[in-house]
Amino acid sequence: MREQLLAAEKVKAIEWRDGALYLLDQRALPFEETWLRCDSAAVVAQAIRDMVVRGAPAIGISAAYAFVLAVRARLQAGGDWRAALQEDVDLLAASRPTAVNLFWALTCMRERLERLKPGDDAAGLLEVAAIGIHQSDREANLTMAQLGVDLIRRHQGNQQNLLTHCNAGALATGGFGTALGVIRAAFHEGLLERVYADETRPWLQGSRLTAWELAADGIPVTVNVDSAAAHLMKTRGITWVIVGADRIAANGDVANKIGTYQLAVNAMHHGVRFMVVAPSSTIDMATEHGDDIVLEERDASELLELGGQRIAAGVDALNPVFDVTPADLIDFIVTEKGVVDRPDTEKMAQLMCRKRLH
Ligand code: MRU
Repeated sequence: MREQLLAAEKVKAIEWRDGALYLLDQRALPFEETWLRCDSAAVVAQAIRDMVVRGAPAIGISAAYAFVLAVRARLQAGGDWRAALQEDVDLLAASRPTAVNLFWALTCMRERLERLKPGDDAAGLLEVAAIGIHQSDREANLTMAQLGVDLIRRHQGNQQNLLTHCNAGALATGGFGTALGVIRAAFHEGLLERVYADETRPWLQGSRLTAWELAADGIPVTVNVDSAAAHLMKTRGITWVIVGADRIAANGDVANKIGTYQLAVNAMHHGVRFMVVAPSSTIDMATEHGDDIVLEERDASELLELGGQRIAAGVDALNPVFDVTPADLIDFIVTEKGVVDRPDTEKMAQLMCRKRLH
């Protein structure tokens, strides 16, 4: 199935070409496909903050390439370039707080830098490391797709109606997606009847991005308002909720797009299975409990305006963009190292000791 799935990789959000990072501007999708050329860490940090690129793995990959751009610029400037680099790392680390892949990628790159020997081509070797992070995320997507589809087959059989939230697809990763990777694989295996995509207020990742990606692959997809989810579980035979993650705590609690928590509560009530699909780079063993995860709040204007038009009276708005789903509402966490069912601290620790499956 890996080859078939690789052939289905159509959408790309990130390209490293001629020594620069190109990001597909996700703010303009699905109507415009424009690419932003990033030639400095500062431009990448701004692009992450402004959601040109978004989705936890894609943010991490972009940060890795930004690290290369920073090293190159600091080397050219001369002096104590390693010390000066910290300013770039701090800028990148401050771009968004919740997706741990950002911090994970910066740590990987920093560790690679520290392993360099005198006389090494620093920029060249760090470029190889960033490409490696990108490539291994792509590989992880394929492995998780296989594991996720095996779960669906084992637990439910043919013709599933799946519900997803936000966008955990090609646009959010280095490959063809985490949650959407499983959904794409289910389609290829003939297990899928329809995907329901929560529109995902306020940024509309579901209607603008997920629906676009799936429709491009000929996968039957219907968009619904977020608040329809419980009703759909009751009336449309939804069998699985499949989502990605921004950070998974050591106890298995999952931070993901706002609204994921209420989906999990509703899924439990309706006997719908709940699957989280995320690479191990999203697991943060240093954070014991979901309550310790920093959840980003974005500007109130994202709620109070629509297409630049004010849609509410002069009131305050609260715009937390992530929430935490407690581990005890989750049936499966699927990673490239394997699957954890009914996650808890012990099972997460065991998972993290395993090697990648491919
Ligand atoms: O605010 P976003 O669009 O970056 O949020 C993205 C999500 O919540 C995704 O579900 C998550 O990052 C997983 S992407 C594979």
